[in-house]
Amino acid sequence: MEEHDLDPDPIVALIAWLEEARGSVPQADAMALATATPDGRPSVRIVLLRAVDGHGLTFFTNRESRKGDELRANPRAAVCLHWWELGRQVRAEGAVEELIAEESAEYWATRPRASRIAAWASRQSQALTGREELTDAVARMEERFAGQEVPLPPFWGGYRLRPESVELWTHHDDRLHDRVAYVRRASGWERVRLAP
Ligand SMILES: Cc1cc2nc3c(=O)[nH]c(=O)nc-3n(C[C@H](O)[C@H](O)[C@H](O)COP(=O)(O)O)c2cc1C
Repeated sequence: MEEHDLDPDPIVALIAWLEEARGSVPQADAMALATATPDGRPSVRIVLLRAVDGHGLTFFTNRESRKGDELRANPRAAVCLHWWELGRQVRAEGAVEELIAEESAEYWATRPRASRIAAWASRQSQALTGREELTDAVARMEERFAGQEVPLPPFWGGYRLRPESVELWTHHDDRLHDRVAYVRRASGWERVRLAP
């Protein structure tokens, strides 16, 4: 791969790669999301990449979860996607902002009812006495919202990572993999090839 094979805007290149991945890779949207406490203790988990556009990369979660707490205290994150079948990896780093309620509500409306009930029932990242505590909470929420729409919880919503750097990686059997790193400058994206 030559640098000029890739779009000068890494978000455009990422969207094209993601499209290809969705056509050939199961769970192509699964993305490792790394956050950290303000004193620099990292944590990582998989979330689903729900949208990518010029504004950034969007995912949804419980704002009172561990990642939610870390993002409140230290609103920066790194993400990584890997598509084995395509021999490609994407990394991005940047500041993270909360989506406004209207944007979260728009996505919430597309979620199946059972997922919405589960979001209300699960105090994500808190200790449970057992699975029963969770299934009881689901039953209580089903009762609470019986016969009505399940509203967006005040503790749940989207985040947008605004990439300041992006790296696109391509596998080569000879181990001389291609790495193209982009950095956002005031004048636009700058790119450089990195040693594998
Ligand atoms: C394939 C996959 C997709 C996931 N998608 C999400 C997601 O979009 N949002 C979310 O909050 N958790 C998602 N999870 C669960 C997270 O990995 C994690 O367990 C949860 O968010 C709690 O993380 P935390 O305690 O670090 O906040 C997903 C897990 C897997 C394996």
